[in-house]
Amino acid sequence: MPKPATTVRHREPTPAARLVAPYTRAEIEALVARYGSPLMIVDCDVVRAQYRRLQAALPGVDLHYALKPLPDAAVVAALNGIGGFFDLASSGEVERVRAAGVPAARCIHTHPIKRDADIRDALRFGVRTFVADNVDELGKFVRHKRRVGVLLRVAFSAEDAVVDLSRKFGCETGAVAGLLAVARRLGVPVTGFSFHVGSQTPTPTMHVRAIEACGRLIAEARAAGYEGLTTLDIGGGFPADYRERTTPIEEFCAPIRSALAALPPGLRIIAEPGRFVAAAAGTAVGTVMGRALRDGRWWFYLDDGIYGSYSGQLFDHMRYPVAALRDDGERVAAVLAGPTCDVIDVIDDHLELPMLEAGDLVVGRQMGAYTSACATDFNFIRRARIIAVNGDEGDEGDAGDLTAVTVGAS
Ligand SMILES: Cc1ncc(COP(=O)(O)O)c(C=O)c1O
Repeated sequence: MPKPATTVRHREPTPAARLVAPYTRAEIEALVARYGSPLMIVDCDVVRAQYRRLQAALPGVDLHYALKPLPDAAVVAALNGIGGFFDLASSGEVERVRAAGVPAARCIHTHPIKRDADIRDALRFGVRTFVADNVDELGKFVRHKRRVGVLLRVAFSAEDAVVDLSRKFGCETGAVAGLLAVARRLGVPVTGFSFHVGSQTPTPTMHVRAIEACGRLIAEARAAGYEGLTTLDIGGGFPADYRERTTPIEEFCAPIRSALAALPPGLRIIAEPGRFVAAAAGTAVGTVMGRALRDGRWWFYLDDGIYGSYSGQLFDHMRYPVAALRDDGERVAAVLAGPTCDVIDVIDDHLELPMLEAGDLVVGRQMGAYTSACATDFNFIRRARIIAVNGDEGDEGDAGDLTAVTVGAS
């Protein structure tokens, strides 16, 4: 059993009323005064709102929140509190939901390639649905065959997705019949199909094509006598707004709804959204440490950067809306750099910012997904402290429940 992530959790009542994103300047200053800098403010109200918005756009689809973009305990608790489902991909994630008291029946494990120890950890918790995409992986379920249902992951790659996952995972559609035959021979129950068309997909075109193709695969398999195909998992990829706005989720999901309606009957449809639920919930606040004029541009050095909360600019290829909190006065051509000694640690080298000085705050929005989750402590520079706000769902003004959560060794 792997060690659970170190989580230090302090419940501190605060006199502040419920915080409403995007928060006032005074609220952000008060949070930094209280909890220090850099900070990552995770707003549980936004997490719940995003989850419900996607639920409304995909009625009848069970949304398994993929923990990886923002696995913080407060996010898991917020979604558990509204009956949410979860998508796990590691034993650490299993431990996180177990510790939060999430019922195992609301969890699936979707990593296509895993060790027997990972399968056992998930089984011990009570997860029963797993994913495989090749013969070797099916073989790993032989010893557990009475306790599992396996989804075959099929590769469908959206050309316009920012992150292509099908390069790494998923079988060809042409391999499905063979894998079904192997599973039958091994006695491993296949309960359906899954796919992930890629993350931050601006159009639903490939979701629709993949649903249609899986519909055909299910019909063919049933005709060939494969009983028990009960589930289609349509993955993640639902896009979030960054510097540019993307298609509103209601519009994005409309053709997906139509494609789902045309599927063979008797299927439970699930999805694994991560980014759409998490991105809008994260606000990064950093403090200017110093400045220098170089080649006619002002360099402002922040206490957070590419090795910290802005790591998603490298790993996830996103650019976040950033602005000075004190956004007044004349603007200067500016470079916003991170705190480490590495030259790649530059957040943006073409910004127009007010003339900042040490102590000024800089705010990054839409930073909940694949940001703090990928941060490092390079240079022994501490990553941002995560502050979860609005943890308990309730009436305005009663949420004196600001919760400071520090994840990882610090
Ligand atoms: C198996 C799996 N499910 C779900 C997700 C979440 O995808 P997204 O953040 O695009 O919604 C990912 C992202 O890498 C993934 O690998």
